Amino acid sequence: MIEVADIHKSFKSGDRWVEVLKGVSCQIPKGRFAFIVGPSGSGKSTLLYLMGALDLPTKGTISVENQDLTKMTEAEQNAYRRDRVGFIFQSFNLIKNLSAVQNVVVPFLPTGVTAEHRRKAADLLTAVGLGDRLDHHPWQLSGGEQQRIAIARALIKDPILVLADEPTGELDRKTGDEIYKILRKLQAERQTTLVVVTHDRRFIRPDDLVLEIEDGLLKSSEGSESEDDLTEARVG
Ligand SMILES: Nc1ncnc2c1ncn2[C@@H]1O[C@H](COP(=O)(O)OP(=O)(O)OP(=O)(O)O)[C@@H](O)[C@H]1O
Ligand SMILES: [Mg+2]
Repeated sequence: MIEVADIHKSFKSGDRWVEVLKGVSCQIPKGRFAFIVGPSGSGKSTLLYLMGALDLPTKGTISVENQDLTKMTEAEQNAYRRDRVGFIFQSFNLIKNLSAVQNVVVPFLPTGVTAEHRRKAADLLTAVGLGDRLDHHPWQLSGGEQQRIAIARALIKDPILVLADEPTGELDRKTGDEIYKILRKLQAERQTTLVVVTHDRRFIRPDDLVLEIEDGLLKSSEGSESEDDLTEARVG
């Protein structure tokens, strides 16, 4: 469902180019829980952002449900990011002076928020255990609660793909466990493909697909040898 083919990504640093991804190929089947792991600076976030069309590769292609992100027009990329992908970041990225419900419906602001959107936001907040916090503001909530709002926001448009960059990076162990419990539950219910960057391998389960990046290359991919699909993830 996500097909990454020989991705290279370089950034300009001063007057020279630094190659951060050096030819990464992998496939993530629809509905899978996939992790990107690897040392700091290895290119994990860069790869994740490319899957979300937040940036474009220097070379190579990324297709999501047979749509090549690198060949889309700018308007198509905007629509992809806006309507088809949900993003969850380490630092929650909530708007301080908006309530939980208002934060969750933020993705609808450009086109107009309806009562139906607000109802759906309340349902999602209830699903992540915040049914009694609908009108609370981020500053009245714990880190774990704020991240749960961010999860609800990421799901409000029923995305085909959810991308999370260290979603528990700022949370303690116990709260981190709770966040993964919620992510797993929602993912199982919705069959959304979920790609998560993490430093913490204890959240990984045997069935998950694990893409290990080292120094801009895919070092290994585990979880690909399942009986029904031997080609789920290839080291390329
Ligand atoms: N926009 C950018 N401009 C210049 N260099 C960048 C940019 N984004 C990332 N880099 C560089 O690319 C390399 C990989 O960055 P990336 O954020 O993908 O690493 P990471 O694996 O997510 O690391 P961490 O675990 O610390 O978050 C780093 O050396 C970083 O400095
Ligand atoms: Mg990162």
